Amino acid sequence: MALKITRPQGTEDITPKNINKWYTVEEIARETAMCFGFKEIRIPTFENTELFLRSVGETTDVVQKEMYTVKAKETEFTLRPEGTAGTIRAMLQNGMLNDALPQRAFYILSCFRHERPQAGRLREFHQFGLEMAGSGSPAADAEVISLAKTLLDRLGLRNIALNINSIGCPKCRCEYHKALRSYFAKREDELCDTCKTRLEKNPMRILDCKSPVCGEIAENAPVILDYLCNECSEHFETLKKYLNNLSIEFTVNPKIVRGLDYYTKTVFEFVTTDIGAQGTVCGGGRYDGLIEQLGGAATPALGFAMGIERILLTMESQGCQFMEEKTCDLYIAPMDASAADMAMNIAQKLRSDGYHAEYDVMNRGIKAQMKYANKIGAKFVLVVGGNELESGCAKLKLMETGEQFDIHLDDRFAKEFEDLAIRYMFNDIFEEFEEEK
Ligand code: HAM
Repeated sequence: MALKITRPQGTEDITPKNINKWYTVEEIARETAMCFGFKEIRIPTFENTELFLRSVGETTDVVQKEMYTVKAKETEFTLRPEGTAGTIRAMLQNGMLNDALPQRAFYILSCFRHERPQAGRLREFHQFGLEMAGSGSPAADAEVISLAKTLLDRLGLRNIALNINSIGCPKCRCEYHKALRSYFAKREDELCDTCKTRLEKNPMRILDCKSPVCGEIAENAPVILDYLCNECSEHFETLKKYLNNLSIEFTVNPKIVRGLDYYTKTVFEFVTTDIGAQGTVCGGGRYDGLIEQLGGAATPALGFAMGIERILLTMESQGCQFMEEKTCDLYIAPMDASAADMAMNIAQKLRSDGYHAEYDVMNRGIKAQMKYANKIGAKFVLVVGGNELESGCAKLKLMETGEQFDIHLDDRFAKEFEDLAIRYMFNDIFEEFEEEK
């Protein structure tokens, strides 16, 4: 027997049974982003590897351990591990930063990281994210955080804590790096090999190393908040004031450094304890140096990304509501081959009116067809055969109650179906409407 091929470890299939959950998140995310003036951007799934080396950073876990890189005809490409680098590359390449600022773009995309799979941590996962380029004001930080919070609220999520921090700018980092080097140098021998090399090149990266020993050593390391320059400190204080003004609760967590190198000043995470160890559902921050680093004019920018799988896990664990699945409005059951044309024509007409209509394509007998109609949750069923074709009239069955209605099979069908559909399928709305009258 041929070997069954299964999906690669750390990937998931999103089957039609679950798709309404994804539609719920995607639709609410799109609507929310648009309320804040963001428009959608779509970027390639892979980019030149160089892009990620220069943005995410050569000493990060993502670049050092997790990228999927392929060599194709002498050129090296990498499957995007995140959306910021590609979005900023696209903003530059398409001249978007020469237009009115700030530029605001959101995205829904898949990302690829070779991490050890566990609940909430995948090798292919999906992000809803956004980037705003052009504003260095803390008002923009408050705006982006408020957007994330609004979206989480609209999804019906609760118990999600917002943690914020400032990781300063290259100016204040200079002193901070010195303090970190002298702290970690004392226990250099115990650090993992990757962190030994980070000690010289980028000691802040040791702070979010996933090795338990490095984590334990980092526990008492100096915190960046004690080293902020006046400008960064003022920026952070003003952001806190704005968040208070917007009644957005937060905790200052000086331990947040984020796993990507491009961040400056504000960083933030929304975290839940409801889905186990991988509880960060959203992460983001400011990256004022990135655009210049990628060849553009110095332009401050910021953004965030949410892991859609983690959002869904949290929504499921909290019993949040998902959009209702659309089911079949009318199932047409032809009794024999003579009624097939009629079934096709009726279905075609109803579909053009926007209804979900199906008819038998399995040559099943009536009993089996009724069973199938029940299984797919058809709201109405129409049985057509010799007698009905002759008389030009048939019985339309409302599946929920078993009630039957006479309906004409000629040009009148669509109108008569619509009247019944409004009366019975949208019953709640109809009753409300009647009451109001
Ligand atoms: P990130 O923190 O690396 O940031 O990822 C953002 C979110 O993606 C995480 O908070 C998490 O919900 C989800 N995520 C990350 N890795 C995985 C994984 N292996 N499996 C499942 N979900 C995962 C960024 O990607 C930045 N580009 C965010 C950003 C946008 N910063 C500024 N603009």
